[in-house]
Amino acid sequence: MDVRFVVVPDAHAAAAAAAALLVEVADADGSVVLAGGSTPRHAYEIAAEAHSDWGGVEVWFGDDRCVPADDPRSNQLLVREALLERLVVGPTVHAIPTGLAAADAAAAYDAALQGEPLDLVLLGLGPDGHTASLFPGAPSLDVRDRLAVAAEPGLEPFVERVTLTIPALESGAHVVFLAVGEGKALAVRRAFAEEPSGATPASLVRSRSGTTTVILDAAAASLLG
Ligand code: 6PG
Repeated sequence: MDVRFVVVPDAHAAAAAAAALLVEVADADGSVVLAGGSTPRHAYEIAAEAHSDWGGVEVWFGDDRCVPADDPRSNQLLVREALLERLVVGPTVHAIPTGLAAADAAAAYDAALQGEPLDLVLLGLGPDGHTASLFPGAPSLDVRDRLAVAAEPGLEPFVERVTLTIPALESGAHVVFLAVGEGKALAVRRAFAEEPSGATPASLVRSRSGTTTVILDAAAASLLG
């Protein structure tokens, strides 16, 4: 369950490193789980610029907020603006149906994900150690029989979420965390250099049979030692 660290000088270089992995998936007509939050936006923009034909790609979401698809808090909106609208040929997009009640949306997404291979799983990291919408101490951390569940937020924005579960995320052949900035440094240390714990959900997510990579800028890596 080793992790491979890629530490680069700044946030732009971290986005470029993540974008290069996205482009590999696009080149190979693979499948990818995309992260929400603010950090991956630039990676999506670089990837769209570098490779504009995503025609053979399957795009999934690691989590989404239960808001309309045009709400600024929507991860779907982020991906649409930063990636999909910039492509010449778009991928097949498996959006989380956030118009439904969270439990119904999670059940639908769980069913859609069954048996789907996930080549690349891109994840963010919260300052509290959460990833996707798996928050510290949440019941979702113990779910083993579902690939997606409804989740309560532990941080802003305080709207209901749908999140992939640990079994879904760890099925990724390549699991990649992207984190930048000093504000993530302590969470990075807890998630990748200390004992796994439900207090730091990202510490529980590693590719089961493939590779786990952590892409960091120097500030986020500063407490790794
Ligand atoms: C979400 C996420 C979440 C995110 C982290 C980091 O939808 O909230 O997918 O896990 O990746 O909170 O968010 P930032 O990139 O905004 O710091």
